Amino acid sequence: MKNTAPAHTGRHFLQIPGPTNVPDRVLHAMAMPTIDHRGPEFATLGQEVVAGMKRVFQTEGTVVIYPSSGTGAWEAALVNTLSPGDRVLMFETGHFATLWRQMATRLALDIKFVPGDWRHGVDPAQVAEKLAADREHRVKAVCVVHNETSTGVTSRIGEIRAAIDGERHPALFMVDTISSLASIDYRHDEWKVDVTVGGSQKGLMLPPGLGFNAVSKKALAAGKEAKSTRAYWDWQPMLESGHTGFFPYTPGTNLLYGLRESLKMLLDEEGLDRVFARHARHGEATRRAVGAWGLEILCKDPREHSNSLTAIVVPDGFDADRMREVILDAYDMSLGTGLGKMKGKVFRIGHLGHFNDLMLCGTLCGVEMGLHRAGIPHKPGGIAAALEYLGAA
Ligand SMILES: Cc1ncc(COP(=O)(O)O)c(C=O)c1O
Repeated sequence: MKNTAPAHTGRHFLQIPGPTNVPDRVLHAMAMPTIDHRGPEFATLGQEVVAGMKRVFQTEGTVVIYPSSGTGAWEAALVNTLSPGDRVLMFETGHFATLWRQMATRLALDIKFVPGDWRHGVDPAQVAEKLAADREHRVKAVCVVHNETSTGVTSRIGEIRAAIDGERHPALFMVDTISSLASIDYRHDEWKVDVTVGGSQKGLMLPPGLGFNAVSKKALAAGKEAKSTRAYWDWQPMLESGHTGFFPYTPGTNLLYGLRESLKMLLDEEGLDRVFARHARHGEATRRAVGAWGLEILCKDPREHSNSLTAIVVPDGFDADRMREVILDAYDMSLGTGLGKMKGKVFRIGHLGHFNDLMLCGTLCGVEMGLHRAGIPHKPGGIAAALEYLGAA
């Protein structure tokens, strides 16, 4: 019989770096009747998910949940704390940092955008240098993307905090954790972050549709002075929900059922430390496969390798999107496209969320077969390198 690639049978492999695979039990939890969002049953749900999200952000502070995508939570972070004309320090780590800057520009903030090569995270020494030069303390906020989903580079938030402290600079510190939350260690309180931005569709293993802010006391105080126009995103009416469980408008009730279930899995069953260790293991196995294939990882600094995704550079003269098409067509697997100026140059493997060793093996097999089928020059042995690492412990 002819050896042809099979039709699309079995389960689709969704290996983009978010939205990620949603566990069946989370889908089942969401398939419950929507309840009265002003009734007592909802209040319990609201309180439970806010309390759980505090544990995920590693904060004792305030958590706000919006029925929104992550971009909405970005906007909320900016408009609740800043006034038009305020100076903000941002860093060009990749596509998402660039989009955050575009939004801040539209909100009439005065952006100092530190250029980057999309292969490194934010350099703590550069943060210190920029803040040292700001003797009049005109910079009101430092904004950093923790895990740049377009490049697979993770900035070192603890070290950036130390750099801000080293300059005794009073700027607010805002961090986007959309593709690191609940997959890479992140400590809102310990790192004295003022606003952390999150989304539901990655490490939290939910469909898109919830946005989060974790908010420090300093950010709440800044909000009292901030003049940016805000209505839907205003924290004030939302602050009660942590106590009462109620939202000021109709919440995403069924997504919150899903969140309650995924929090149970992450916090009570697996435990955050093991969640982080699992992501580190899958990140390392993936990088070993890439190394054995003789391909290049976009992230240049091993201290900044992302554990939730890996961006891989295809050799000059080859199109990463063509290879992704071949893989989708032949093996029914979706890989992440190159975003912005990385279009066609890289493909991204998502290894975050609801994921295990065998799913990673399937993913890497799909990539190795796809490299072969698309005629991308590479060495054999990537799978073997990953298996050796995964099998060792
Ligand atoms: C790091 C990062 N920031 C922001 C966003 C934007 O989030 P959303 O598409 O949910 O609005 C994304 C989306 O992938 C992201 O990965």
